[in-house]
Amino acid sequence: MKMIAPSVLSADFSKLGEEIKKVEKGGADIIHLDIMDGRYVPNITFGIPVVESIRPITELPFDAHLMIVEPEKYVEDFIKAGVNMISFHMDATIHSHRLVEKIKNLGAKAGVVLNPATPVNTLEEIIHYIDYVLIMSVNPGFGGQKFIPQTLQKVKKLKILMEETGRTDILIEIDGGIKEENIREVSAAGVNIFVAGSSVFKAENPAEAVKKLKEKVRF
Ligand code: DX5
Ligand code: ZN
Repeated sequence: MKMIAPSVLSADFSKLGEEIKKVEKGGADIIHLDIMDGRYVPNITFGIPVVESIRPITELPFDAHLMIVEPEKYVEDFIKAGVNMISFHMDATIHSHRLVEKIKNLGAKAGVVLNPATPVNTLEEIIHYIDYVLIMSVNPGFGGQKFIPQTLQKVKKLKILMEETGRTDILIEIDGGIKEENIREVSAAGVNIFVAGSSVFKAENPAEAVKKLKEKVRF
């Protein structure tokens, strides 16, 4: 399964609804929402009221990538606001297992995020409980950064861990620096969900940009 998840981080926030409609037309599968608190990462984006206000715009699933400390305090509100998938950074919370269970019990898909320097083996125990893994291919905090090539090895390591633990059903999401030039190679490594911010929303025609990314990963 291959899915494109445009990140609205690089969209024009003065017309967020229209921006979402554009990528929906281009065939986006998921809308990726980057939630930053200025503490876990050195940047601040938006929160629950914004998610609520864009929820009626589209029926596409909302994927909240929480780059916040103590994510356990906010997951319920995000899910109530209409988020369907939630990922958090394991080092942002003390009780990862409890949080995964909480997210799932509230009816959303639960994912954990690995920063570029976080090894795959930190997933060894939590892998039995999660629905997806988000691998950061840049350092979290900003759009428009360069893809870190070592990430491809990491995806391969994750595939091995999935085989070893019998969790080949887990989806692999990648986030950072994804564009037309590299998406096919990243896809070949085994990634399922491709987050793309600047390569979609900074393009002249975001709908067309999504369409092109989709075509590249079709086979
Ligand atoms: C970075 C965010 C990404 C970001 C990706 O912290 O998690 O989702 O929007 O942006 P691009 O695709 O521009 O690298
Ligand atoms: Zn993200």
